[in-house]
Amino acid sequence: MPPTPSSASVLVVDDEPDLRTLYELTLLREGHAVVAAADVTQAREWLAQQRFDVVISDMRLPDGLGLDLLRELGETQRPEKCIVITAYGSAENAVESLKAGAFDYLTKPVDLKQLRSAVTAALQSLREQRGGMSGNATAPATAHGSGAGDASRKPDVPSSGAQSLRRIVGSSPSIAQIKTRIEKVASSMAPVLILGESGTGKELVARAVHDCSHRHAGPFVAVNCGAIPENLIEAEFFGARKGAYTGATTDREGYFQAARGGTLFLDEIGDLPLAMQAKLLRVIQERRVRALGGVQEEAVDVRLVSATHRDLNALVQGGQFRQDLFYRLNVIGLRTPALRERRDDLPLLVNALLARLCAESGQNVPALSPRVLAWLQSRELPGNVRELENLLQRALALSNGDVLEPEDFGEADDTSEMPTQPDQLSPADGSGASVTRPPEEIPADLQTYLDEQERQVLLKALRECDFNRTAAAARLGLNLRQMRYRIQRLGIPMPSDDDDANT
Ligand SMILES: Nc1ncnc2c1ncn2[C@@H]1O[C@H](COP(=O)(O)OP(=O)(O)OP(=O)(O)O)[C@@H](O)[C@H]1O
Ligand SMILES: [Mg+2]
Repeated sequence: MPPTPSSASVLVVDDEPDLRTLYELTLLREGHAVVAAADVTQAREWLAQQRFDVVISDMRLPDGLGLDLLRELGETQRPEKCIVITAYGSAENAVESLKAGAFDYLTKPVDLKQLRSAVTAALQSLREQRGGMSGNATAPATAHGSGAGDASRKPDVPSSGAQSLRRIVGSSPSIAQIKTRIEKVASSMAPVLILGESGTGKELVARAVHDCSHRHAGPFVAVNCGAIPENLIEAEFFGARKGAYTGATTDREGYFQAARGGTLFLDEIGDLPLAMQAKLLRVIQERRVRALGGVQEEAVDVRLVSATHRDLNALVQGGQFRQDLFYRLNVIGLRTPALRERRDDLPLLVNALLARLCAESGQNVPALSPRVLAWLQSRELPGNVRELENLLQRALALSNGDVLEPEDFGEADDTSEMPTQPDQLSPADGSGASVTRPPEEIPADLQTYLDEQERQVLLKALRECDFNRTAAAARLGLNLRQMRYRIQRLGIPMPSDDDDANT
């Protein structure tokens, strides 16, 4: 059968003749051009003769491992997308393959529907990498490639991806590196885990991974794992059938269903309750979910990206996070650098944030007095870019000129002056009571809002006490244990020495 426009050339490698034939027939029926090999040696012979779009290989072969083939393809910069078939339950092989650059993996016994959709996804991804070559992923796939086209091995990022990457501001090596990695890993199915302090742009990175991938036209569903009441969490994730629980009056989709064909972003994954961790692990392994109260499981095609500001290794050590789940989520690790590790990016960031904030509020971008940058450079900024953004937003609101001065930040030369902002405490009446004002707008997420308020209050107290926890706790009417807990929960980084100048 001649290849149709959406057809691929596929190499199937499996030593079991029956399975080999089954895969071959399945893919032939889809209109793909398929050849088969029974072991690593035969596969190498085919690969020496021609290019393929997709290589599907069993992991364990008589004369070697599918992983070896995969590595060879990677080392020689071959264009093929690899799908590895692993034995049921061998999570390590699956993870190893993804780390070695496999596009995806399938678990035995292979579900033929999953086989077909994995090949389709691989083709889609190839097509985008080759930069909108109309329709046919196979175009230069056959033999004797003179090398034309090979030079552009760097994945072509869809325009949504390019835009998303531009939103990550910074020219420091750590930012350049994370952007390169995003482009590189976006096209595989491998789960991504983003670690980094609060306010360092983890969500921006998650979004960029989605926008750079071939799933960019699909949904991006972001979930805050710490914000869902424990009794609702299963239904929220996997959906619920009518009558599954009191109040379930209709069938409801969960996040997994909503993210079908796209990316599910599990934010604050460190806050996921243990019981739910076990269920999530199962879904990742089987790639199927069952709605609460449902009978049938359904296959879900979802790419997982997770993030947390917490120390997951410590949580694993402490028994609060499952090691096997950590292992599954952390196939590709990305780390967002703290602002103090990239001080040189500060001017760029300030300008970009000012431009964005002013555009949002329809105000002219003010000029910046050089003293502002110097003042910002001298600050700790443990809340990273988010804190910088908050400071600028406040300054814009308070400033009444065309030039931003340190005084507009409300605390330039005398930090003991009392705040006029609603997000700070006023202990001035000596009663220990705080003045709270209602927010101007109802926050979209109460917990995030309250956390942010708490963070600000804690930071202020800590700063004013030279980051002495005991003193800050006393100021807030907390005991030391409560203070420690809060600092940890909100991920407030503590300087190791008293280097904060705010006294
Ligand atoms: N590199 C960056 N360039 C531009 N803006 C950034 C950058 N990093 C973060 N921001 C901005 O800072 C704010 C916080 O970013 P984001 O929500 O992605 O951080 P986070 O790491 O998820 O923080 P948290 O752990 O508190 O949820 C957002 O408004 C984001 O747009
Ligand atoms: Mg976040």
